[in-house]
Amino acid sequence: MEIFQVFFDSIIFILPLWFGNASPTLLGGGAPIDGGKYWRDGKRILGDGKTIRGFWAGTLVGGIVGMLIAIILPILDINLEYINLLDKGFFYSIVSNLNVFLLYTNQAVFGFLIGAIQTFGGLTGDIIGSFIKRRSGVERGQTFIFLDQLGFLILGMGLIYFVIPWPIEWFLVLVPITFLMHIIANLIGYFTGIQDVPL
Ligand code: CTP
Ligand code: MG
Repeated sequence: MEIFQVFFDSIIFILPLWFGNASPTLLGGGAPIDGGKYWRDGKRILGDGKTIRGFWAGTLVGGIVGMLIAIILPILDINLEYINLLDKGFFYSIVSNLNVFLLYTNQAVFGFLIGAIQTFGGLTGDIIGSFIKRRSGVERGQTFIFLDQLGFLILGMGLIYFVIPWPIEWFLVLVPITFLMHIIANLIGYFTGIQDVPL
């Protein structure tokens, strides 16, 4: 069924970003990205919730999840739908002559790159979100509804669009599901003691 296919393809596509974006809660810590510095409004530029380790560890997790998907699905004899979209991408049209995309004949490497690029974009969106939160007077760890749940999705999907021009239906499916999944994941984190705030 068509609608089932759209759900399946879009969720497979977004899994690296979901895991990669959630993982800094467990793997983050250490030096903050803003170096502890303050903006001219007297508040931190980003705050202690955005660390260098969290950013790169999350990007790596996104890559690993992307790689696992690219390895496991073909074994189950399921095609990666996004591969079919590749040659329509802006990035592909630039680099195809350089044969860089010979890489995608190796689906594990390609899956890693896709997951890592998505998550890099997503965690960049997360940083921009913290910047907006601090400028709006929202303290580190406090919820900013919609921005917290969807900022990373928009930037992550936006960046990967240059490589894989995903169909708009995927985005329409992923906005409400990601919103709910983010809230559910945070509630689980709260009730299991992984994080101090429910959202
Ligand atoms: N984290 C990290 N590095 C990042 C992103 C997140 O170390 N680049 C970790 C931090 O420990 C953070 C936790 O993951 O507290 C949860 O992430 P998030 O909810 O995005 O941060 P908040 O603490 O809520 O901070 P902010 O209000 O700035 O979003
Ligand atoms: Mg938060």
